[in-house]
Amino acid sequence: MSHPRHIAIIMDGNGRWAEARGQPRHAGHRAGIEPVRVTVRSCGELGIEALTLFAFSSENWRRPPEEIGQLMDLFMDAMEKELPELHGNAVRLQFIGRRESLTVRLQARMAETEAHTAGNQGLKLNIAVGYGGRWDIVQASRALARRCQSGALNAADIDEAALQGELSLQGLPEPDLFIRTGGEQRISNFLLWQLAYTELYFCDTLWPDFDRAAFDAALAFFAGRQRRFGMTGAQAGTA
Ligand code: FPP
Repeated sequence: MSHPRHIAIIMDGNGRWAEARGQPRHAGHRAGIEPVRVTVRSCGELGIEALTLFAFSSENWRRPPEEIGQLMDLFMDAMEKELPELHGNAVRLQFIGRRESLTVRLQARMAETEAHTAGNQGLKLNIAVGYGGRWDIVQASRALARRCQSGALNAADIDEAALQGELSLQGLPEPDLFIRTGGEQRISNFLLWQLAYTELYFCDTLWPDFDRAAFDAALAFFAGRQRRFGMTGAQAGTA
């Protein structure tokens, strides 16, 4: 079975999972940690190169401050608790997104975690926090504009590769499989540029219930797809 090299996931449905149990929404977010562990371990076992998780979007800042605070505390706790296992398994952690709005403590913890795991050669785990696909394209455009202003780049030389080189996940293969749990069929401003050719998989499972069997079902979906990148089936060798 051919595995994806890079999987991107929108982990949706934590709130509904908790509400269905008469529990507060943050109980759902906490229950969302175990499927993260399961998915990270599975990717490691299968030799998948990269995993990108949407933990907090640029739009999630509109949630009630109490829920935002609980999510940020959860990220802090999870980084501390999970770091030994992640590092022990050679996982390289990287955060993508606009960090300025996060607390100084959280920013510092993220930077430490990245530095601690920077040399690891195993799974590249990217956690999107305060991330938006449009934000990413805007910050990349700004970086190109600065290079033009300084004279290092001509506007006429800006091409797809140049813009791609400034995006947050620069250097990684584009995701070949996108998974969204929780039943909605939307991209919700996740990796807009990078998902151009990605196979999209949606399932009704709420994120806290996403187990190894649910992950394997997504991989089986991927294995059954024909990836043609605009070519005919015969050209792509999939016919
Ligand atoms: C969406 O569910 C989920 C989030 C906004 C938070 C995701 C966070 C985790 C899974 C915690 C662990 C993550 C890491 C990387 C440590 P929702 O609240 O929108 O659910 P709903 O649609 O049912 O309301």
